[in-house]
Amino acid sequence: MTTSPQLWSGRFSEPVSARVQRYTASIGFDYRLAEFDIQGSLAHARMLAHCHIISPTDLADIERGLADILHDIQAGRFEWKLELEDVHLNIEKSLTERVGDAGKRLHTGRSRNDQVATDIRLWLRHHIDLMLVGLRNMQRALAQQAEKHAAVLMPGHTHLQVAQPVTFGHHLLAYFEMFARDAERLADCRRRVNRLPLGAAALAGTSYPIDRDRVARELGFDSVCANSLDAVSDRDFAIEFCATASVIMTHFSRLSEELILWMNPRFGFIDLPDRFCTGSSIMPQKKNPDVPELMRGKTGRINGHLVSLLTLMKGQPLAYNKDNQEDKEPLFDTVDTVLDTLAIAAEMMSGLEIRPNAMHDALNQGHATATDLADYLVKKGLPFRDAHEAVARAVRLAETRHCTLSELPLPELQSFSDLIEHDVYGVLSLEGSAASRNHFGGTAPERVIVAAQRALQSLQ
Ligand code: ARG
Repeated sequence: MTTSPQLWSGRFSEPVSARVQRYTASIGFDYRLAEFDIQGSLAHARMLAHCHIISPTDLADIERGLADILHDIQAGRFEWKLELEDVHLNIEKSLTERVGDAGKRLHTGRSRNDQVATDIRLWLRHHIDLMLVGLRNMQRALAQQAEKHAAVLMPGHTHLQVAQPVTFGHHLLAYFEMFARDAERLADCRRRVNRLPLGAAALAGTSYPIDRDRVARELGFDSVCANSLDAVSDRDFAIEFCATASVIMTHFSRLSEELILWMNPRFGFIDLPDRFCTGSSIMPQKKNPDVPELMRGKTGRINGHLVSLLTLMKGQPLAYNKDNQEDKEPLFDTVDTVLDTLAIAAEMMSGLEIRPNAMHDALNQGHATATDLADYLVKKGLPFRDAHEAVARAVRLAETRHCTLSELPLPELQSFSDLIEHDVYGVLSLEGSAASRNHFGGTAPERVIVAAQRALQSLQ
């Protein structure tokens, strides 16, 4: 490959080697910022004209040229050149080719340092908004399934051992809450993304009489970055975004882990639609939950991107350093991965089939109402610790008999406490246990229906 002079080459006596050119260029990935780069340039040029820094004719030429370029990019006709290093220089060079000197005036009062910081913020804001829509779709899928299965009993686990009956709807709404907090985190992060760096120029600001507020308004930024050094150098908004993405993926990873377990025939609680699974090339009987496994796996890569950005930033002196060019690939991949995960998971959860009988059988094997029996004794006056001990002994007997607590005859139950009466069988039933947890946030089917409906309403 030949090298050709860069836009900034006037000071240099020799060109960079092809290898160095490839190493330093970002056009291979930052072309994705193009649309936002043009938006930023248009707002900058309009401000320059408004402030009489460039002429109205220059502005008209710039507007026409940039519109043309955008058109070519969208049509896939724009030729990105490696020797022009990045998206900013590619577009600027092409603008000058199209409109002459006006193109060369566009960069007045601006540097690529504040330009790129602006582009990333515009790009990220747009994608945060897409992600918020994706999160809502995921939450809707969960809440709809929760409403449908509000009364289906399943074992709730602690330590992955059967603990107490919960409803499947209640379990799904736990994830609804997690994703609701993720949406709050994203919206909060967006506030800090949505500040304008332009005007900071290279690092110290500019001597032209610019109007930063005007640019901010035109680009829909809430405010203007208050310190020029900070504006060009920090990427904490991207770090914060990646941290939020890591939490989102952690939630998906936990859900995936459960789907994988539930689909194992030893649980047999659910079936995933075939389109989210694959077979084995050697074992004809297999149906593997590939999609949830990949979601769990991709979480590692998203965590990696967060660590990349933190590490990228930690040793940098103020202000801009070329290190920051490395912020884009982790950020882009994080957005791509989370958006895909959100869309696929929402579809997968909508298509989920459940096996209530398997859930019920599993509950019957775990003495899931032992706590209810203890609470029954406490309500009749026994101190909780004594009740706990009495029930533990009853469970031991049921274990030796290979039966459930509710299958023990009354006289045998009474041998553990004379407070036990016939009404105990209501307490020992799985349905009774769930129904009794009838408070805000509890698993009683009545409550779960209301919670699912409230959840759906919150998405409107
Ligand atoms: N491609 C660069 C980046 O992504 C643009 C800013 C370059 N600035 C500079 N002074 N070399 O960060």
